[in-house]
Amino acid sequence: MKLSKRFQAFTRLIQSPMAKEHYAYFQPIDRSFGTEVEVHGQRLIMAGSNDYLGLTHDPRVQEAAIQAIKRWGTGPGGSRFLSGNMTLHEELEARLAAFVGKKHVVVHTTGFLTNLGAISSLMQKDDVILFDKENHASIQEGCNNTGARIMYFEHNSRDSAERRLAQARESHPDSVCFLITEGVFSMSGDVANMPELIKIKRANPDLVFYLDDAHGLGVLGRGRGTAQHFGVAQDVDFIMGTFSKAMASTGGFIASDHEDALTYVKNNSKTLIFSAALAAANAATVLECLNILEAEPERVDRLWEITRKIRTGYREIGLEFGDNESPIIPIYVGDEFKALRISKELFKRGVFALPAIYPAVPKGKALIRTAYMSTHTDAQLDVVLTALGELAREFGIRVQDTQAAQAPVRDDNAGAMAAASS
Ligand SMILES: Cc1ncc(COP(=O)(O)O)c(C=O)c1O
Repeated sequence: MKLSKRFQAFTRLIQSPMAKEHYAYFQPIDRSFGTEVEVHGQRLIMAGSNDYLGLTHDPRVQEAAIQAIKRWGTGPGGSRFLSGNMTLHEELEARLAAFVGKKHVVVHTTGFLTNLGAISSLMQKDDVILFDKENHASIQEGCNNTGARIMYFEHNSRDSAERRLAQARESHPDSVCFLITEGVFSMSGDVANMPELIKIKRANPDLVFYLDDAHGLGVLGRGRGTAQHFGVAQDVDFIMGTFSKAMASTGGFIASDHEDALTYVKNNSKTLIFSAALAAANAATVLECLNILEAEPERVDRLWEITRKIRTGYREIGLEFGDNESPIIPIYVGDEFKALRISKELFKRGVFALPAIYPAVPKGKALIRTAYMSTHTDAQLDVVLTALGELAREFGIRVQDTQAAQAPVRDDNAGAMAAASS
């Protein structure tokens, strides 16, 4: 088969007039002002960023990055294993360990590479992995890479995870068993059911608990993450986090009290050994974010104030949305093209929010992923709510619209006949 044939179906799909009109992704942001961005010359309120604390534009953070560039240069010049390891990385690892409540940390270049490298180093092909069905693609890729038996459990369900564990014990009695969940799920915004899931760990101390807290860090537990929010950090064996969300940078880390396991990861993670180190500016950014978070935890409080305001607003509009405890608030639309069209209309009304469609979410379960930042002003939030209110009516996506569409059609003749016969 020729290489060009391989892509024909996708090329046809993406170049169809329908797709050309509605394709929503790879929007070229020409400039960012934090809570606002400029796209094709239009200024838009950003309502889909993971920069939850709005620190990417904090002057102290930017200055820390500039100073790091002056001291270490713009690029690392090699992997950490060879010529790219900086004292800055080691300082960051020590600070992060204390922040998330673990003894040791290993920093990687991105969150994706952290999951891929750490999971591939920690898990082996005769292991069993209990895997929440909604876990992120980077976790899936890491697990696939190990060749271990992956057993999926129903999203956030302790019962389902326990059933899987019992099956694993039966079929693989000698295997090491891992349980992997996210702290805050990236699409739904659901917070992990840690109080219940951790009971499984407490009843089975040899179960290895791995928590991907990409979206919990900086957000829950006054910024210290999901495990600390629920007071269970000591029960979680591995906490993975990213710098690409609330930490205003890129990069990722794995934290644990198991020193030997992390020393192994540090010396065996292919994505650490064979990939360039985290650039100095990115590492310094995270260190300054940690300084700010420790000094100004009220930034997180403002995020919650905003989240509450938005939830109330969505409820008043009648939107069907992910009613959870995080600043990721998906608006459920269902139909893929409707979601694409609503997103486009939001842009016209000055709001940047993108749809998630199949395969990112199940078929027919398209959503608009909205996410908020602690630096959004009330005026900006009002613009977003007004735009969503108008579009929800126009596109018939309010709960009352869906209920009306599902209600049985009243047969007035039948009523009249019944009255006549009585
Ligand atoms: C749950 C989760 N884990 C890992 C990652 C990967 O992180 P990064 O973007 O830093 O590579 C993401 C980001 O999309 C995520 O949402």
